Amino acid sequence: ELVVLRDVCGRVRQQLHAAAVAIVAGGPRRCDPIAGDGGRVDGAVAERAMAAGITIAPHQHDGRVEAAAPIHYGGAIVGALSARWPIGSTYDLSRASTVMTMTAAAAAPILSAALAHRQRPKPAAPELIGTTTAMVELKRGVERAASAPFAVLIEGESGSGKELVAQAIHRASLRRDRPLRTLNCAALPDDLVEAELFGHVRGSFTGAVGDRTGVFEEAHGGTLFLDEIGELSPRAQAKLLRVIQEGEIRRVGENLSRRVDVRIVAATNRDLRREVEAGRFRVDLLYRLDVIRIAVPPLRERAEDVPLLVDHFWREATSRVASRATLAATTLAALARYHWPGNVRELQNVLASLAVRCGRRGVVGPSALPPHLAQGSAAAADKWRLDEARRTFDERFVRAALVRSGGHRGRAAEELGVTRQGLTKLMARLGISSSSPARDTG
Ligand SMILES: Nc1ncnc2c1ncn2[C@@H]1O[C@H](COP(=O)(O)OP(=O)(O)O)[C@@H](O)[C@H]1O
Ligand SMILES: [Mg+2]
Repeated sequence: ELVVLRDVCGRVRQQLHAAAVAIVAGGPRRCDPIAGDGGRVDGAVAERAMAAGITIAPHQHDGRVEAAAPIHYGGAIVGALSARWPIGSTYDLSRASTVMTMTAAAAAPILSAALAHRQRPKPAAPELIGTTTAMVELKRGVERAASAPFAVLIEGESGSGKELVAQAIHRASLRRDRPLRTLNCAALPDDLVEAELFGHVRGSFTGAVGDRTGVFEEAHGGTLFLDEIGELSPRAQAKLLRVIQEGEIRRVGENLSRRVDVRIVAATNRDLRREVEAGRFRVDLLYRLDVIRIAVPPLRERAEDVPLLVDHFWREATSRVASRATLAATTLAALARYHWPGNVRELQNVLASLAVRCGRRGVVGPSALPPHLAQGSAAAADKWRLDEARRTFDERFVRAALVRSGGHRGRAAEELGVTRQGLTKLMARLGISSSSPARDTG
């Protein structure tokens, strides 16, 4: 819309032989320039036109000739079109009022749309939710990766948040104002590899109806996220390796080489070293990709983050269906106990379908959960009980040592056979604060 409005100003300026034409938005007392051509136009005349609600014909003002027409939309004045001429302009100014009034009417819906866009808050970039040590370390890894110019390899199970991590790296990097492009390597047909990566010119092969840029060119100056890199065919691996080595691409059907500056962030749920051993992945490509490695932990290894994630996704899911239902504590407990083979994505899906199926209000009990979740598979429940038992034991053991040493960490650490830092970490993991070592754990 802003481009259109600027164009409108340009055309009016030409038609009226004006020095400058501008569109402002706002009301009689406060107006913002939105688009213009030929330089600044004093806001005073525009404000007067908006206050009066009628076009103010060209007249001398402060050493120039000025005119303005209010822009009406939906029964309100949303802005004004204003113009300026040098004094002594030879142009026939009597036509100007008509042209400006007509243009103001034509530009009204466009200005209104531009204003609606400006006011709509940008959707907040999704954040990595989680406060467990594993998550804090992951976020630190993201920061480190973002500040270095090297390729990044993100490893993790499906649904664990690899794509979110890639986005976070891009956003925290110096390339944040440049594009982030994603290529899903698993969905890349072998005969379209070059076209997808490098683009093509019209007619270079059957189906190439127009010119097209590839992802490398699109991501120029920014980041290219290669998702599911482990699924890349041998041919595609060879093509990819060549661009990375040479920093140049050539569109299919074209002789011209173009330099591209792209940072590669790749993700996989496979163990690429094992893929190399099995002869399915090129070792030279792996070396190029695996400069900074980030491991995204599966959700079951950071079960303490489940309540936070549940809170977030439940809010999101219920607001989408205008529900005010809440989750019972026992439901939350069942969710926290589950081993989440599909990780965060599975959790998100479970809550979304639960929000749709349950009532608009009231408390959702555990029986509403899918059966495998309500009981927890026997193995998962056993594992959880074992983890719980271990944790309880560790906690009592550490607390007892702290009590015996009178809260002296050095001595307690010695007794436990760990370093001081080791003890501090242990206390953090077990949720023991130094001020209350003897709290009863039940
Ligand atoms: N730590 C997290 N905090 C918030 N949302 C997350 C987190 N991890 C994953 N998600 C969400 O879970 C879904 C799956 O994440 P995604 O990055 O696509 O996983 P992957 O690429 O590893 O399969 C997405 O909707 C993502 O926004
Ligand atoms: Mg993914």
